[in-house]
Amino acid sequence: MSSHLDVRLREGTKHSHTITENTAFMKCFLKGVVEKSYFRKLLADLYFVYGALEEQLEWYQHHPIIGMIYFPELRRQANLEKDLAFYYGENWRSQIVPSPAGQVYVNRIREVGNTQPELLIAHAYTRYMGDLSGGQALRKIARTAMDLPSDLGTAMLEFEQISTPEARREFKEQYRQALNFLPLEEAMIQNIVNEANYAFTLNRNVIHELEADVKAVIGEHVFDLITRQDHIGSTEHTPKSATAEIIAPEYSLMMTQKSPLK
Ligand code: HEM
Repeated sequence: MSSHLDVRLREGTKHSHTITENTAFMKCFLKGVVEKSYFRKLLADLYFVYGALEEQLEWYQHHPIIGMIYFPELRRQANLEKDLAFYYGENWRSQIVPSPAGQVYVNRIREVGNTQPELLIAHAYTRYMGDLSGGQALRKIARTAMDLPSDLGTAMLEFEQISTPEARREFKEQYRQALNFLPLEEAMIQNIVNEANYAFTLNRNVIHELEADVKAVIGEHVFDLITRQDHIGSTEHTPKSATAEIIAPEYSLMMTQKSPLK
C-alpha cells in the first residue's frame, strides 16, 4: 500500500517552505549573516522543541503508526546539549528558557501528542527532513560565518550515523518509503499535511523573534538590502537531486562578498 504521503507532504508544504526561505532571518543567514549572540537563542528554542518532539516520539515508539517513523538515529537532543554547552558554557541549563514562540511550538507538539498522535508525523517530517536537506547547507554557512573551531557549534545539524551526502540521500529515501507505508485514511493525510504547514508557521514565528537581533548586528540599511528580494523556493520546481546546485550559487555569492563577520 502506498499513500504517497511523501509527495503529499512535499507538494503540500512547498509554498510554506518558500515563505520560510524568504523570511528576513533566513535571507540574512544565506548571505552569511549569522552571529553567536542570536544563533544560540535559536538552538535554545530548538532544544525545547526537540525535547518535546522526541519525548512524544519515544513514548509512541511501539505505536503501530508512529513507531514506523521512529528512527533513533535522528534524535537531536544530545547534540543540542553539546551545542548549548559550547555557546552558553557549562551552566547552559540555567541560562535558557524558551522564547514565547518557542513555547507555543512546544505546547502544540505536546497537545497533538496527547490528542492526535498521528499529527506528530507532520512535526517529525518538517524538522528532520529539513535538517537532513537544507539544514546541511545552513550548517556550512554557519560554520564559515562564525568561524567555528572544528567539531564545535553545529552538532545540531550533524548526524553521526548518517554522516555522508550519500547516506543522507539514502536515509531520506527510506524515510519517504516509511511515510508511504503508513496505513492512513485520506482525511488523516490531509490533517497531517495541514499540521506540517502549521509546523512551518511555528518555525517562522520562532525565527521571526530573532529579526531584531539580526538588524542590530548589520544595521537597518544592509538588512533592507538583503531582505527586499524574494528567491524561488528550493522545493518549488527542483528534482530532489538538484539540492547541491540550488544551494551552491547562494553560497558562492556569499563567499565573494566581504563577510561582515571576518
Ligand atoms: C534558508 C533556509 C532553507 C533552505 C535554503 C532550505 C533548502 C532546502 C532544500 C535545498 C531542500 C531539498 C529539496 C529537495 O530535496 O529537492 C529542502 C527540503 C526540505 N526543507 Fe528546507 N530549507 C530551508 C529552511 C527550512 C526550514 C526552516 C524548514 C522547516 C523547519 C525546512 C524544511 C524542509 C523539509 C521538510 C524538506 C523536505 C522536502 C521534501 O519532502 O522533499 N527547510 N530544503
